[in-house]
Amino acid sequence: MFGLNKTLPKFCDLKGKVAIVTGAAKGMGKAHSLTLSKAGAKVALADIDLAGCQLVVDEIKKQRGESFAVKCDMSQKKDIDNLIAETVKKFGKIDILVNNAGIFPFKPFLEMQEQDFEKVIDVNLKGYFLAAQAATKEMQKNQPNEKGQRGSIINIASIAAIVGFPGLVHYCGSKGGIIGMSKAMALELAPLGIRVNNVDPGAIDTPGASMTNMDPKAREAMLAPIPMKRSGTAQEIANAVLFLASNESSYLTGSTMVVDGGWVAG
Ligand SMILES: NC(=O)c1ccc[n+]([C@@H]2O[C@H](COP(=O)([O-])OP(=O)(O)OC[C@H]3O[C@@H](n4cnc5c(N)ncnc54)[C@H](O)[C@@H]3O)[C@@H](O)[C@H]2O)c1
Repeated sequence: MFGLNKTLPKFCDLKGKVAIVTGAAKGMGKAHSLTLSKAGAKVALADIDLAGCQLVVDEIKKQRGESFAVKCDMSQKKDIDNLIAETVKKFGKIDILVNNAGIFPFKPFLEMQEQDFEKVIDVNLKGYFLAAQAATKEMQKNQPNEKGQRGSIINIASIAAIVGFPGLVHYCGSKGGIIGMSKAMALELAPLGIRVNNVDPGAIDTPGASMTNMDPKAREAMLAPIPMKRSGTAQEIANAVLFLASNESSYLTGSTMVVDGGWVAG
């Protein structure tokens, strides 16, 4: 009525923005990449699985987006530095970083070796720190927008930062660490116009945590504590990422969006 929609700005418009998504070859990282691209961003895709990333680049090209893939092990500083340098070389700047690459290898606490613990911390926590620090150095060169904003960092944590899961002592430690680290980063980076927020997904159906192929009894037990009685989709997490990446969330920093069908509300 009265052209109301015409007077509203396009919601979550990322035209002219450059984003990096880690762990982009499949699962949630793929959904974040396709979604940010649909919103107008140019997207650099990073993963240890370069061939998988290339397939996502092809999908992005089909939807007329701009993208490229970089082989990057998030536990290796030299790979992360190369990812940042390649992105700036190809797209000129960085506005958005989605730290998403994560591993969750189940192992009982008493069988967990030092190397098991270190591997998870290196990818899930140290990698997020290194990528955020390197991206920030580029973001602070950006011209601030009308709200003084220069960039947005989104860290994919987990409800494992809030509740414990047996067999995932290292993973829960890494995800809890992300929340604390992000809050401290948010305080230091607010004066620079860079926002840092987290998303805590609940049970999301992805290749890494497939609910579809689960034994029906195990699936029923897994869904029992979830008030919505279903797993979430990668797209439902990508929608939260899109909001946090865009100017529509310009007053959010140091926050965590829990996207879990109500699981930890109880
Ligand atoms: N699926 C869930 O239920 C769930 C719930 C909460 C949080 N999460 C978190 O969401 C993120 C994505 O999970 P997903 O379920 O999509 O996982 P997934 O296993 O389906 O995909 C993860 C991607 O990360 C890549 N990757 C793994 N190690 C890497 C490394 N060292 N460097 C770069 N890339 C690497 C993999 O190749 C893969 O493409 C992770 O951080 C995970 O901890 C997942």
